[in-house]
Amino acid sequence: MAISDAKWIREKAIEHTEFFRNSIPLIASENLISPMTKEMMISDLNNRYAEGLPGHRYYQGNKIVDEIETRTEDLVKSLFRAKQADVRPISGTNANQAIVFSLSSPGDKIMSPSLDDGAHISSAEFGAVGMRGLNITHMAFNSEYMKIDVDETKKLIIREKPKICLFGFSVFLFPAPIKELKETMDEVGCKVWYDGAHVLGLIAGKRFQDPLREGADLITGSTHKTFPGPQHGIILGNTDDETWKKVRRGVFPGVISNHHLGAMAGLGITSAEMMEFGESYADQIINNAKTLAQEMHSLGFDVIAEKNGFTESHTILVNVKSKGGGKFVAETLERNSIILNKNMIPGDSNKKSQDPSGIRIGTQEVTRIGMGRSEMIQIANLINEALNGKDVRGDVRDLKSNFTEVKYCYGREDAYEFISLFK
Ligand SMILES: Cc1ncc(COP(=O)(O)O)c(C=O)c1O
Repeated sequence: MAISDAKWIREKAIEHTEFFRNSIPLIASENLISPMTKEMMISDLNNRYAEGLPGHRYYQGNKIVDEIETRTEDLVKSLFRAKQADVRPISGTNANQAIVFSLSSPGDKIMSPSLDDGAHISSAEFGAVGMRGLNITHMAFNSEYMKIDVDETKKLIIREKPKICLFGFSVFLFPAPIKELKETMDEVGCKVWYDGAHVLGLIAGKRFQDPLREGADLITGSTHKTFPGPQHGIILGNTDDETWKKVRRGVFPGVISNHHLGAMAGLGITSAEMMEFGESYADQIINNAKTLAQEMHSLGFDVIAEKNGFTESHTILVNVKSKGGGKFVAETLERNSIILNKNMIPGDSNKKSQDPSGIRIGTQEVTRIGMGRSEMIQIANLINEALNGKDVRGDVRDLKSNFTEVKYCYGREDAYEFISLFK
């Protein structure tokens, strides 16, 4: 029985892989790892523990792990021009937990955007921030432009005097105004924390914004959204030694024990690849998002933030209330092998999160496989046709069959040679 269960799961994984091979992936938080990064996920690193920091471990057998981790930290610091880096968090949420645990106490005030305005659940009452017992107030937001309202937020910062200002969005369409708010934040002496989970790859590619130069003390992030690495997390710092020491302790022993060493090494490899390919990758991601937004707008879709040029990132947000709502649209597209998610849009606060008015679309994964302007135009048309009742599965498969390789990374040939070494 057990062997048949195991085989069943393996067959299902193959079926899943096949399904995605023939689909258009537009979820804004997903991506594909490179062949060399993939190798790290099957190497012996995945079987090991390495609690603590290089040179200060609790187990034996970590000599080479220490070398890899030190090199990965150095690569990451150089890529992001960061004074400090911690490559141990195992996800973006986990990195956020480490910050919350190390730099705040229950009852402290934190200011962040609201969920309705596109923030992530980890910063909500019922997420990591709220569960730490922090007192959350929200920044003012201009939903027509999908941007934090600088003047109103300045007033709120002066009134509330938060201990931490957190800038982070799951619908991160436009740069956060750190520079504009920096003087006010300094006036009240708050820490500036930037949650770059979604836009980390754009920042690595020197696009979107440069939070550490604009005044952020700390950046947290996922390493698998626009940053096309393994599912893992990261913390970058430009802060004083004492704060950094607390953050390090917040990570271990605060919120992790072992830090998934294959993924950590994969993060190092992806960082090296982003040094070489990151700028052209980020450029193309953003160009593709702008093209897709414009094309959908031309086809009559209500793409949000028209007045602000729709987007400066990998993401676009579309109000599909008139097309049956987010749930109906996302499910209809899924039946047509176009994979994206339903999403809350501004004004949805009294709607159920399972039935919001919008959809969210990300271009980082289709860009990763080499798609450009003409494919974005085709995708907009396929979405439109599917929602008008046409079965587009065959057209999706045909389009996708021309894009079978991961780009903006080192080659398959090199990697496959290595894979045999890990057998
Ligand atoms: C702004 C933001 N922070 C944190 C996270 C959580 O990242 P992870 O899924 O790596 O835990 C997300 C996930 O989408 C996010 O959008």
